[in-house]
Amino acid sequence: VTVTPFTEPMPVPPQLSPVSQAGGVDVYEIPIEPAQVQILPGLSTPAYTYGGSFVGPTIRARTNRPVRITYTNGLDSHTNVHLHGGRVPASSDGHPMDMIEPGGSRVYDYPNVQRGATLWYHDHTHDYEADHVYRGLHGFYLIEDPAERHLHLPKGRYDVPILLRNAQFDESGAFVFGNPDDRTTILANGKVQPYFQVAPRRYRFRLLNAALKHVFRLNLGGQPMVRIASDSGLLPAPTTHTELAVSSGERVEIVIDFAEHRGRGPVYLFDGDNPILRFDVGSTRVIDTSRVPDRLRELPPLGTPTVERTVELKFDMSGRPPTAFIDGKVFDPNRVDIQVKRGTTEIWNIVNGDTDPYPFDHPFHLHLVHFQVLGRNGGPPAPEDTGLKDTVYVSPKGSVRFQVTFDAPFVGRYMYHCHYPEHSYLGMMAQLEVVP
Ligand code: C2O
Ligand code: CU
Repeated sequence: VTVTPFTEPMPVPPQLSPVSQAGGVDVYEIPIEPAQVQILPGLSTPAYTYGGSFVGPTIRARTNRPVRITYTNGLDSHTNVHLHGGRVPASSDGHPMDMIEPGGSRVYDYPNVQRGATLWYHDHTHDYEADHVYRGLHGFYLIEDPAERHLHLPKGRYDVPILLRNAQFDESGAFVFGNPDDRTTILANGKVQPYFQVAPRRYRFRLLNAALKHVFRLNLGGQPMVRIASDSGLLPAPTTHTELAVSSGERVEIVIDFAEHRGRGPVYLFDGDNPILRFDVGSTRVIDTSRVPDRLRELPPLGTPTVERTVELKFDMSGRPPTAFIDGKVFDPNRVDIQVKRGTTEIWNIVNGDTDPYPFDHPFHLHLVHFQVLGRNGGPPAPEDTGLKDTVYVSPKGSVRFQVTFDAPFVGRYMYHCHYPEHSYLGMMAQLEVVP
């Protein structure tokens, strides 16, 4: 299937309205259902969706205001929902074994006791996560924080979430589930090389890598990009980059000021040297009262670590199928791998144990909490590592050292795993128990 580039507009995912706001709780209902969606021009693609939309509807939550979502499973297979980046009770975390049966429904409670950030929700069903997410079970969950209002960052229609992922299609437009990184097409909000009409002013873009397996090398063709936030909220100060690496599960927020491009032709967002999105800049001058202040938001203090651990990720290609380990063990839902005491601060060293001839990379994700990267590959953090994170790229033969505080007010079992489902599925997933 060939698509003429930049002939279709990039949609912005629909924003969902609550069915009730009684008692200060935003209540939503989302059916999980099969749908025919239009990704390729003139073809329809059978997909799995949240509410019929290939990029699920965006939930706009607010810090300290609870959200309750009832999901109803209209698929013929089990499903569940994980709020990636959410500080949520274990019963609402979408544990891989904690599933919604076909025809059933389940209520998830999200207290939003956390900073403003770009979160996302996706399927986390044991053994089916890769298939389900690939077919479309992904959407944005944005937490707005009243404490950040005075910054006057671009908001409303100038605050745009963009879900980036890859996919492969057959001649009929159906998804081909196979080679996840080669010969695939990049989609921006579910379209191939779309254009997006912008006014000559500042925009905030919330970029999410929802690909099963891909590292985006985002750039504007050499022009500087202003990064304002990482996975779990605003940076202390904006940082400037010519390229931003974003691995599966990670988010990065940038501000582009299109005023500088008025009357000068389009601006392209590239993945490496592949243009994936074209911004068409309007010619009519507009008043822009938004800004990017020099100081954004201080990170929480790190505290004194009381525990230091090493977590080794290792892929073993010798078997058929291959296996994947964390600390030498494949995932077992009946085993607790690490116990941590609620409230403590720890240092984790994530070590990529893969060796030649198969040194893979692994995006490491920890549920429930956010961390700050202290170092990478024995040296200082990479420029992209600053800020609060919940997912971090561990390069082949590399390592990442971070500090994490288990300050969420919940106890129970949470997951940590490689965010490539083809690795977590083979065992690269483990279980952490937070105890009082
Ligand atoms: Cu985004 Cu446990 O996953
Ligand atoms: Cu991996």
